[in-house]
Amino acid sequence: MNSKNINGTNFIFDNCDTVELAQTFGTPLYVISEDRIKSKCEDIRKNFLMKYPNTKAAYASKAFLTMAMCKIIDREGLGLDVVSGGELYTAIKANFPMERIMFHGSNKSYEELALAVTHNIGRIIVDNVYELEMLERIAKEQGKKVAILFRITPGVGGNTHEYITTGQKDSKFGIPLEKEIIEYAVRKSMDSSNIHLKGFHFHVGSQLFEISSHILAIQVVLDLMKNLKEELGFITEELNTGGGFGIQYTDEDEATKSVPFFIDPIMETIKEGCNEANLDMPMIIIEPGRWIVGEAGITLYTLGAIKEIPNVRTYASVDGGLPDNPRPALYKAKYDAIVANKANQKAEEVVTIAGKCCETGDILIWDLKVPKVTSGDILAVLNTGAYNYSMASNYNKLPRPAVVLVSQGDAQLIVEREKYEHLLDREVIPEHLDNIQ
Ligand code: LLP
Repeated sequence: MNSKNINGTNFIFDNCDTVELAQTFGTPLYVISEDRIKSKCEDIRKNFLMKYPNTKAAYASKAFLTMAMCKIIDREGLGLDVVSGGELYTAIKANFPMERIMFHGSNKSYEELALAVTHNIGRIIVDNVYELEMLERIAKEQGKKVAILFRITPGVGGNTHEYITTGQKDSKFGIPLEKEIIEYAVRKSMDSSNIHLKGFHFHVGSQLFEISSHILAIQVVLDLMKNLKEELGFITEELNTGGGFGIQYTDEDEATKSVPFFIDPIMETIKEGCNEANLDMPMIIIEPGRWIVGEAGITLYTLGAIKEIPNVRTYASVDGGLPDNPRPALYKAKYDAIVANKANQKAEEVVTIAGKCCETGDILIWDLKVPKVTSGDILAVLNTGAYNYSMASNYNKLPRPAVVLVSQGDAQLIVEREKYEHLLDREVIPEHLDNIQ
């Protein structure tokens, strides 16, 4: 998010004064811009769905999912990629069109698969042979024919943090491309009257700024498609190339690219490969998460304790941290931030933004250049739309922040702030401990 929109002294986000948002809804506060999500979806529609025939796009909901988000994605005409019964349940409750749902995950349970089959969701992305056998059983029990893709492990890693690269051979995700294993799975699906294998899926990694891993993975899949056609007569109708498109978090990252940068080389490679191998062009599906929602979110905090260690550093502590944004601690992720109530003031000092958890690693931003800060200032951490709310925890029994959706100056609460009583909602004191005063 590069437009540091400033009005008077306060930081304005989608025509909303962020200091007023903090006063109205409290802090920490996730703020999500509907208009920014919409403009990303428009880019996908214009430069992918409308430009290339026989294509589909789904939003990877693991990045950020609420019922309101389901409604936005529905209105924008995209599909939804879910990875758990909980994500699927959210979509069901939001009345999301079931035929536009794709269900991923490397260890789906019987109950999760049964829920998906009951609701006739669009595609199940089967991750392993164990799942295939379980799904076939469920489909038979329900008297249905279920459309699936196989997630394969293309043996290609994305050039990104090792925890978010997924396509390399030694990975928990996907069916290995060993001839016997993949051919067994394909043959088993072809022989089943309850399974309709439509094609394949791969996902090479996340937060990628170049497309070389996708291209390598496509070449691997094209070989597979060719072999399966020749040896088993299997025709691949669909190919899902996953997500992974990167966004700019700080000046150290490349600028965020728009859809053609990623899509055009992907489509070109597939088209050429299919021509050369005499294969029909399959339907192409993409499923970005971070790229759609990452830059649409900011998190507002209030600064509390400010501690200067002379000649060492100044720590400015915020009223949240690791529980609402675990990414710096988990991946050494870097963020930029603005002192929202001093947005037009020049940087005068360097501070380190510390979270409030009892955890040394709970540092949100090292060495942030800011105007002279004081307790009570509002800090807006930028580009927190993806993998923040969805990865939030209650560590240190901190209640989770509220989420506000903003659009053209209007702000609506879409997730209420947790209260202390919510933290104890599901706790039970066993009888033998209940009489301890
Ligand atoms: N499709 C599949 C099968 C995936 O596994 C993922 C992400 C996506 C799509 C969406 O990837 P995206 O477009 O958002 O890069 N928690 C980590 C990211 C983990 C991503 C895992 N899979 C983070 O905070 O960076």
